[in-house]
Amino acid sequence: MTSAESSSLNTLYAAHLAEQQRRTEHALQRGGYDALLIASGIEKFAFLDDRPYVFQTNPHFKLWVPLVQHTDSWLVIRPGHKPRLVYCQPEDYWHVPPAAPSGFWVEHFELIVIRRPEDARQHLQLPGRLAIVGEADAALEGVVPNNPPEVLNPLHYARAVKTPYELLRLREASTAGARAHLAAQQAFREGRSEAEIHRAYLAASGHAERDLPYGNIVALNEHAAVLHYQYQETKAPAQSLSLLVDAGAHSVGYASDITRTTGNGDASFQALIDAMEAAQLRLVDRVRAGVDYRDIHLASHREIAGVLRQLDIVKMDEDAMLAERVTSTFLPHGIGHLLGLQVHDIGGFMASEEGGTLDKPEGHRYLRLTRVLQPGMVVTIEPGLYFIPMLLDQLRATPAAAQVDWSLVKHLSAFGGVRIEDDVACTDTGAPENMTREAFAALG
Ligand code: GLY
Ligand code: MN
Ligand code: MN
Repeated sequence: MTSAESSSLNTLYAAHLAEQQRRTEHALQRGGYDALLIASGIEKFAFLDDRPYVFQTNPHFKLWVPLVQHTDSWLVIRPGHKPRLVYCQPEDYWHVPPAAPSGFWVEHFELIVIRRPEDARQHLQLPGRLAIVGEADAALEGVVPNNPPEVLNPLHYARAVKTPYELLRLREASTAGARAHLAAQQAFREGRSEAEIHRAYLAASGHAERDLPYGNIVALNEHAAVLHYQYQETKAPAQSLSLLVDAGAHSVGYASDITRTTGNGDASFQALIDAMEAAQLRLVDRVRAGVDYRDIHLASHREIAGVLRQLDIVKMDEDAMLAERVTSTFLPHGIGHLLGLQVHDIGGFMASEEGGTLDKPEGHRYLRLTRVLQPGMVVTIEPGLYFIPMLLDQLRATPAAAQVDWSLVKHLSAFGGVRIEDDVACTDTGAPENMTREAFAALG
């Protein structure tokens, strides 16, 4: 990093913290609390075993500090005070303990280093009403998470709008993900197995498996029709027809969530990819301030109707396809979600900072975001069109079945399906920022 880059990072980070401080003071005041305590979390173990699960940091913690591997640490946020970080650095010769705190972020905290988790208590027991955010098992004697909704709701609602520092982290996450997707596509062209493609992805992302923001979906052929396909076969299929990879990366806890589908040159599958690519870009262009995200989801069904019609998969009028819910056979998931510290970032259904729920459109139960877009929100746009045997069987039993080209469906079923997913920021200048496309473009 050049010194200009590091000073710009520091400026962005300072502004990010000032914004989190402002949001927190507002939330504390709303709830009538004096301080916010945030537990980073604790290590958890398999039942009757001493093997730990992969540690997942409390998102409230990594919102403030670029630390994702630090158990048993705490933040204390009080109006008018510098944030306090109680940093647990145990003496441990079984594991690598956290390094002494260092880096651009340290100067922004009142730093207290402790050697044992229980030593945090004396730095947390403050006068006044405390809002304590964490899981129940992060509790210390006298410091028990209460997670008050009056404080959490405003924080979760506000978190949908990212600061410029967060946008920078999300761009970095898209860059690492895009680089890895290119490596995965190369491995597919070499006829590799799902497990080998997955390893190529990991190597290029710079991540170990435990660092991934979610389990990679690496699906060859008909596996692409399984929305959250969770395995990786170690043996390559006789013929590799298609590859769908839905996989991300992270930058200090901020996630990317990217899907690409690649074919083997088959003309009708390539026509489907091309039509979905054009449809996806039109949907991305709808990510604009003031737009109800539910309308983007509904527009995605109209786009799918257009693709089914254009490719003669279903020879029905588009309005009739929508009225008879034919598109839901082929697109049975939501068009996307909020993205940030969590892949499915919290707060997607909130009506206001007080809470409440904005309903999903009727019949669209898997949509994860129902809010009106604001500048700074980052969302995914991930239309798909799949040939899912279970849903096709249901379609076969309806009157619309007569309009379906079943031999084309059979041919395309061997490819599984197509999903294309980008991470997109809503801006205040009109046109959206497609972080994922820009990352791919920069990689050439
Ligand atoms: N990777 C999960 C999703 O796209 O939402
Ligand atoms: Mn995804
Ligand atoms: Mn997604």
